[in-house]
Amino acid sequence: MSAALLRVENLSIGYDAGIGQIQALRAANLEAHGGEVIGIVGESGCGKSTLVAALINLLAPNAHVNSGAIYYKGTDILTMDRESQRHLRGPDIAMVFQDPMTTFNPVITLGDQLVDFQHHIDGVSNAEKRKRAGELLARAGIPDPELCLRRYPHELSGGMRQRASIAAALLMTPNVLVADEPTTALDVTMEAQIIHLLRELRTDYQGAIIVVTHHLGVVAELCDRVYVMYAGQVVEQGLVDDIYHAPKHPYTRALIACDPAHFEEHTPILPTIAGRVPNLLYPPKGCSFADRCDMATSRCREITPPWVRISETQYALCHEARP
Ligand SMILES: Nc1ncnc2c1ncn2[C@@H]1O[C@H](COP(=O)(O)OP(=O)(O)OP(=O)(O)O)[C@@H](O)[C@H]1O
Ligand SMILES: [Mg+2]
Repeated sequence: MSAALLRVENLSIGYDAGIGQIQALRAANLEAHGGEVIGIVGESGCGKSTLVAALINLLAPNAHVNSGAIYYKGTDILTMDRESQRHLRGPDIAMVFQDPMTTFNPVITLGDQLVDFQHHIDGVSNAEKRKRAGELLARAGIPDPELCLRRYPHELSGGMRQRASIAAALLMTPNVLVADEPTTALDVTMEAQIIHLLRELRTDYQGAIIVVTHHLGVVAELCDRVYVMYAGQVVEQGLVDDIYHAPKHPYTRALIACDPAHFEEHTPILPTIAGRVPNLLYPPKGCSFADRCDMATSRCREITPPWVRISETQYALCHEARP
C-alpha cells in the first residue's frame, strides 16, 4: 500500500477537569490512505470526537496533547505553528460537522459562502465557482440549487443544511474529509440519503474519508476499514469484512450483537452492553473492558493487553485474541 496520507501515532489527549485530567484518548493509532473510507465506532464517550477534533486542530481549550504525533503527508501537524495549521484546514483536511450551522455564517447567503470556500483555488472566476457550488448542491440532492444559493442558512431545513455542509466540505477538495456523526441529527430517510451521497462520492473522490458513527450499518455500507474505540483506546482495527464476520475483540463482538440492524422485528427495547464505560479520570489498570467482558481473567485486570496481530490487516488489543 502507498504511504499513508494521514498517520496518527501513539496519540494521547487529556481534558483538564479541575480534580485531574480526563484521559479521553490513550495511545491511539490510525492510518488513512487516499481513496479509503474509514469508520470509527464505539459507544458514547469513547474518544471518537476527541480523535477527529485533533486531526482538524479543533480541540477544546482545556484539551492537552500528552504525547504522540499526527503526520499529514509526512509532517507532524502538532508541531506546526498556528498559522500553518490554519492553512491546512479546508483544502487539506476538512470537516463535516454534526451541526451544519457550525459550518455556515448565518448572515451571509449560501452562494457567497460556497464561493468563499473555494478561495484557495486559483485561476477560476467567482462565476465559475458559483456554478461549481450549484452543481455540487444538486449532486448532494438539493432540488433547486439556484434558489438554495440565494438563501441564508436558516432558511433551509436541517436536512438541506446538512447536505449543503457536505457540499461545502467537498468544494474545498480536501485530501482528508472528516465527518463526525454526520447523520445523528437527521431522520432515518434523510440519513439513508446522506449515506448514499457519501457512498457515491467515494467513487470519484481521491481523498480519504473518515466517518465517526454510532451506526454499524453505516460502516458496513460505506467503509473499507474500521477502528473500534473503547474508553479512549483503539481496541480493534480491520477491514469491514474482518470486523463483521470475524471480530476478535470481545467489545467489537458486543457492539455487533447489540446493533439494531440485527433485529428483524422492531423491538421497543434494544439490547445494550451491560455495565458502562469506565471513568476516564482514573482509567483502569489492565484492560479497560475487563469489567464488562465475560472472558476476562485476573491477567486482564492486572496487565495492559498487547496488540495482537490477527492478520496483515486486523489487530486487536486483547490478551485472549488469537489469529
Ligand atoms: N471539553 C471537555 N472537557 C472535559 N471532558 C471532555 C471534554 N470533551 C470531551 N470530554 C470527555 O472526554 C471523553 C471522550 O469524549 P468524546 O467526545 O471524544 O467521545 P465520543 O466517543 O465522541 O462520544 P459521543 O459518541 O457521545 O460523541 C468523555 O469522557 C467526555 O466526557
Ligand atoms: Mg462524539
